Order: sequence, then structure tokens, then C-alpha cells
Amino acid sequence: MHALKWTSELEIGIPPIDKQHKRIVDYINQLEEIKGTTNREEVDNVLNQLVDYTLSHFAFEEELMEESGYMFVNAHKRVHKLFVRKVGVFVDRHKLGEDITLELLITLKTWLVNHIKNDDNDYSEVVKNKMHLKVKKSGWLKNSLKKFFG
Ligand SMILES: [Fe+2]
Repeated sequence: MHALKWTSELEIGIPPIDKQHKRIVDYINQLEEIKGTTNREEVDNVLNQLVDYTLSHFAFEEELMEESGYMFVNAHKRVHKLFVRKVGVFVDRHKLGEDITLELLITLKTWLVNHIKNDDNDYSEVVKNKMHLKVKKSGWLKNSLKKFFG
């Protein structure tokens, strides 16, 4: 298996979101690098960061969608929730001592690419339009970023 390459095809055109997606890709690639390792601590570390960061990212995305009045925000939230549950099962299996890295990598790569290209791309226009208006009026985006990512 190869590292996941970041290409312009994965960009949805909202800079903070693209940055976050890119960081998730970095985490996936870190996992790729250490797959098959017997060092559980190393896997723990990447897994924790990946999960934490993804959760903040989803919360951020959901807030953007909500603020923008995106029609399918609830459906999108459900997709996020299902994914979190799916990853949670991997984390539990890992905790029980199973080596899940390879299987998780396949899931993450397929899921993320599909999700960005389809689901995330779908909200991007609505959010972009709204962002334009809002950013002019306030530091809304900056405040949201601060809230989720410190
Ligand atoms: Fe999403």
C-alpha cells in the first residue's frame, strides 16, 4: 500500500477545511509508516491524534454547515457519526490487542477520499457563499477556528 497523496482533486476550496483535511491525510500517512509495528505505544499515539483531530474537524465542519444554512447538514452529521462509530470499533479492537492498522488504513483512505470528493464538495458552494458575506462582517471564521483548534 502507498501513502495517500494530497492532490488538488482533494481540495474543496475552503482554506481552513482544506488545511484540516490535509492534516488528516498526514495522520493517515503516519499510520501507513508505522503499520505492522509491534510498538503499540506508537500506534496508540497516532490513533489518538487522528481520532481527536478528526472529531474537532467534524465539529468545525458541522458548525460551518449549520451557520451557512446548508440543507443537508443533518444527513452530513449522520455520516460523520457513523464514521466515528466505525473508527471507534477499530480503536476498541486495538485496545484488545488486535493489529488493526492495515484494515484501518484501507478504511480511512477509501472513506476520506470519497467523503471529501462527494459529501464535502457538496456543501462547499453554500458555505463559500455564506462565508464571503460573514467574514466581511465579523471575525466569525477566525472565532470558529479558535474555538475548535485553540
Ligand atoms: Fe464532512
